[in-house]
Amino acid sequence: MAMPDDALLSLQTDHLKELQARYESALAEHGYDSLLIASGAAPYRYGDDQAWHFQGYGPFLHWTGLAGREHCWLWIRAGHKPVLWLFEPVDFWHANSPLAEEPWRQFIEVRSSASPEAPLLDDPESLAVIGDPALISNIPGEKNPEALLRDLDETRVCKTPYEIECLAQANRLALAGHAAAREAFLVGESEFGINLAYQQATGQREAEAPYHSIIGLNEHAGTLHYQYYDTQPPGQTRSLLIDAGVRFRGYCSDITRTTAGPEESHFAALIHGLDRLQVRLCDMVAPGVDYIDIHRKAHQGLAALLSATGLVTGLDDEGIVEKGITRVFFPHGIGHFLGVQVHDVAGKPTPPPDDAPFLRLTRRLEPGMVVTIEPGLYFIPSLLDPLLEGELGQYLNRELIGRLRGCGGIRIEDNVVVTDAGSRNLTGGCESRNTKVAQI
Ligand code: GLY
Ligand code: MN
Ligand code: MN
Repeated sequence: MAMPDDALLSLQTDHLKELQARYESALAEHGYDSLLIASGAAPYRYGDDQAWHFQGYGPFLHWTGLAGREHCWLWIRAGHKPVLWLFEPVDFWHANSPLAEEPWRQFIEVRSSASPEAPLLDDPESLAVIGDPALISNIPGEKNPEALLRDLDETRVCKTPYEIECLAQANRLALAGHAAAREAFLVGESEFGINLAYQQATGQREAEAPYHSIIGLNEHAGTLHYQYYDTQPPGQTRSLLIDAGVRFRGYCSDITRTTAGPEESHFAALIHGLDRLQVRLCDMVAPGVDYIDIHRKAHQGLAALLSATGLVTGLDDEGIVEKGITRVFFPHGIGHFLGVQVHDVAGKPTPPPDDAPFLRLTRRLEPGMVVTIEPGLYFIPSLLDPLLEGELGQYLNRELIGRLRGCGGIRIEDNVVVTDAGSRNLTGGCESRNTKVAQI
């Protein structure tokens, strides 16, 4: 159930009070009186009069959630209401979309501006300005000071209750899209058709999505960020991997589901096994847990699955991990922070360890953090073929791999909040999962 609007709007006011406190303390720590944040704007494509798609700079979204608003400026000062200059040009080519009259307007003063330029401020002496360097270079004040930026990123690590409810709603909306996508797959739609079904169900334009939806049928499911949509369905539809989210009031969901075609009982069994492992990994999310341990547990679980399904034989689970075989089937990290950016900031105060080079989050978990848990099991030719041809090839079941590689791969991804007592899975319970087809 969606939270009643009034409750969400009241949480937003609390969120802004909390941000004001977090920002005041970061500014004082670094010796600034005030901070000007540029929302940003989409640059024009080189040699063209068309601009790239625009979604907004993280700190601006953290305060306002106004994704897609260009040339706005937000001024934060200790002891004062923030001021938002809202770009509303006099323009007969484009429309100015009015801001909703919501309670946050009592906390932030909104001034309309017909100019894209930064406002002239009274006291630029101890001013920091943050945003796209191309848009702030001529403004007085210290631009993008690194130490301050690092601390501002820290203010985004533990989400407020408002942010968590926005992320929960972004999940609910995306799940409707995932259900529609699955139905479209089961009636034989193409990748393009599945994308249309997802967009229709989520009411979201592609350009507004937190990232380009990844929709792969058959072998395409084995390309981690597969980016094309075939307009024709393949002759035989064997599998669907869809990784797609929704942005709600600035906040992103990032959900992946994999579905086997009705004749793919072995692949369905693999999905079922990975699904069970993913649930166990989600259950590990709790305060004090080192996220890297969840990543390592994923490799152990994957080794057991590769062994139980006969894909790898003649090695114990530990040997399968130690010899690097699980990294061939699961080359990416177990997940990342999620917020106003799909790969949210501040995940790597320390670099990832050598055994997890692509891990985007190396922190110990704390209440309020929101992470993804996204184990995968893929048949990726550029990783698998060298393994098959090398010394370790003796442990691989070539016949079975040969049969399954046409299904591409599996990823199952949920969004999970760390709570005081453990965790809350924002992506929901069994009804959001794929095990039904897997058990056909
Ligand atoms: N959708 C990109 C990711 O899962 O990180
Ligand atoms: Mn993700
Ligand atoms: Mn994803």
